[in-house]
Amino acid sequence: MFFRRPRDWELKESQITPEKTYLNRRQILAAAGIGVGSIGASQLLPKMGHAQESDPSATLYPVANNPSFTAGEGRTMTPEDISTTYTNYYEFGSSKNIWRKAQNLPIRPWTLVLDGMVEQEQTLDIDALLAEAPLEERIYRHRCVEAWSMVVPWSGFPLAWLVNKARPLSSAKYLRIETFENKKVATGQKQTWYPWPYVEGVTIEEAANDLPFVVTGMYGKPLPKQNGAPLRLALPWKYGFKSIKGIVRISFTDQKPVSFWEEINASEYGFWANVNPEIPHKRWSQATERDIGTDKRIPTQIFNGYGEQVAHLYKDIKGSRLWS
Ligand code: MTE
Repeated sequence: MFFRRPRDWELKESQITPEKTYLNRRQILAAAGIGVGSIGASQLLPKMGHAQESDPSATLYPVANNPSFTAGEGRTMTPEDISTTYTNYYEFGSSKNIWRKAQNLPIRPWTLVLDGMVEQEQTLDIDALLAEAPLEERIYRHRCVEAWSMVVPWSGFPLAWLVNKARPLSSAKYLRIETFENKKVATGQKQTWYPWPYVEGVTIEEAANDLPFVVTGMYGKPLPKQNGAPLRLALPWKYGFKSIKGIVRISFTDQKPVSFWEEINASEYGFWANVNPEIPHKRWSQATERDIGTDKRIPTQIFNGYGEQVAHLYKDIKGSRLWS
């Protein structure tokens, strides 16, 4: 993971739609029957490989906004053209500029396997899952361990809903989550020194919390491929590498999963990876972050500001590295 260099296509702060304006316009347009995707920064710059053109789930969006989740004090929504072109997806290369390459990923048919310690293994078709899931929009802050951040209106459903659907056995303690493998199009996967497939994990208690979100859309439209279509996680109180993209399998297990980055370098990337401004990463101070929408450096908050929802999950965990 590398530091980001500013790009000349980035918008100036004066061009950014503040959240309040975004929401007001959104409400007006929703009332008029026009999707949110037609507003804001997407008007300012050309289309950047958004998945909706060929995506059969396009008609599902926009979904109702859940007002419990907001950008937070002093934060503004990151313009769509920035958050969809500045992405981390090592399957397509180690630069941030992989959005064109990601368009080669076929996302239909796509299945999600729920297996391991469950009552019965299930293979779910993505469109059947989307038709059944309680889709809503949530605005979340995203904080990468490389010390950049963004604010995104994700669409999707609570991970807790999916856990319930999986019917795990009481002996299951963790979710081991796996990304697709497709070396032909995801040429980064030809780099054999990486431990493909990308894997992440959370505890059953974390997954049962309301905050973990299975993301299927963004800015009122289907999720672009470069942001993890058709399924990714958003774990906004943890460093961004935990928010795994292109999910094909969730296995319930009593063994703590070893994540992709942990396997590469366990001293730098741990299992918990909760955001903490006071615990520096070996290569990056975590005290502040650069908002990629405004280009401003701002103080980082413990649990990325979500402590009220999640801090209790960790109060009895002793002798374990809870941060980075
Ligand atoms: N998931 C997979 N499968 N492969 C990746 O390389 N990168 C992670 C995470 N999920 C990554 C992944 C990292 S380091 C971050 S910061 C976020 O995705 C970035 O999400 P974004 O590109 O949508 O901003």
